Amino acid sequence: MRYINNKFFIEGKDIRSLTKKFNTPLYCYSYKNLRENVENFKKAFKEIKPLICFSVKSNSNISLLKEIKKLGLGADVVSKGELYASLKAGINKSKIVFSGVGKTKNEIEYAIKQKILLINSESLSEVLAIEKAAKKLNKIVDIGLRLNPDTDAETLKQISTGKSENKFGVDKKTFVKIINLMKQSKFINIKCLSVHIGSQILNHKPYEKMLNVLDKLLKNLDYKFEFIDLGGGMGINYDHKTKKLNYTKYKKSIIKFKNKYNCKIIFEPGRSIIGNVGILASKVIYLKHNKTKTFVILDAAMNDLIRPALYNAKHRIVPSLRNMSRSKKILEFVGPVCETTDKFLTERKFQNIKENDIMIICDTGAYGYSLSSNYNLRLRPAEILIKGNKVKIIRKRQKITDII
Ligand SMILES: Cc1ncc(COP(=O)(O)O)c(C=O)c1O
Repeated sequence: MRYINNKFFIEGKDIRSLTKKFNTPLYCYSYKNLRENVENFKKAFKEIKPLICFSVKSNSNISLLKEIKKLGLGADVVSKGELYASLKAGINKSKIVFSGVGKTKNEIEYAIKQKILLINSESLSEVLAIEKAAKKLNKIVDIGLRLNPDTDAETLKQISTGKSENKFGVDKKTFVKIINLMKQSKFINIKCLSVHIGSQILNHKPYEKMLNVLDKLLKNLDYKFEFIDLGGGMGINYDHKTKKLNYTKYKKSIIKFKNKYNCKIIFEPGRSIIGNVGILASKVIYLKHNKTKTFVILDAAMNDLIRPALYNAKHRIVPSLRNMSRSKKILEFVGPVCETTDKFLTERKFQNIKENDIMIICDTGAYGYSLSSNYNLRLRPAEILIKGNKVKIIRKRQKITDII
């Protein structure tokens, strides 16, 4: 994705011709970026030989899942729907882990029948529910148990998951209790310790702290885990300014840990694989001026991309056609939804723009479409994948009859 003669291109396609053909708002994904991200991730952690399970919640488009499967990844799923989509995409069941605090009986039985690698459980009640389902189906089920390490991920409060006040995992005491209780189980095999402390983590230190917590726990626990699932959370450079997460430093502490406990490592990355693979193209419907600023009213809104409204996330916005002028007024990029929080970004010294211009909201591959909704009865946008010189519609724009 880059400018050529001041025009925004994705893999050799001018975004303006794509939006003319497929309309706006439009999610566009670059296969090249996806492949590069997967290759870079694999390369960065090569010595660890991890099982990389793509976090499907970050983007569950089936065509993208198929590409991710071909690139060799497994899947981390959090619902029956995501498990179904992953299997449909051809992802090997022996590479699928099922996370989440509230799996229903129906979901548990479905997961057991599919014989996936691990059901990562998050409470005693859930472990007992899995045991009950396993007994009913007369199966021995491999599970993981998620620890809440009470570690601050140093990220947005809303996407932190590893502090004791968060709903995820169990505390150390409960963890040990469940392990001891389940040693006798005929139907449950606790094979994995899982953790996930949060998302958009840019500093390796919280990960080190998390590994120290694990180390302290395992040192005093007479129990061998085949897998340690370290979750995902690796952050990306949304503003193109902040320092990237240092994979090398994180890797070093994992190697030390792995050598000590002789376990296989699982990762569940989402954002770091798919975040910068997608953009959301949107047309300027109106410009509206007040005393201090100009509202740039886009045809994309918080129902298409909720991250800014939900946790004040910042996505860069760039024009599809660059010019050298600078707007004297502050520009506020907003959507048409009837909510004050339907606001993407406030910019100073942005270039002058006109109605009908196409704007690019950057790095929307993760938690973009997958968090979209029909709020205000707005239709969900289309998604396209650009792969070499091919452009494929990978999800049709919704029609009004789809949602009524
Ligand atoms: C259990 C679990 N694993 C993996 C992820 C993926 O995180 P990320 O997209 O930040 O890599 C999440 C996201 O919150 C999660 O809850």
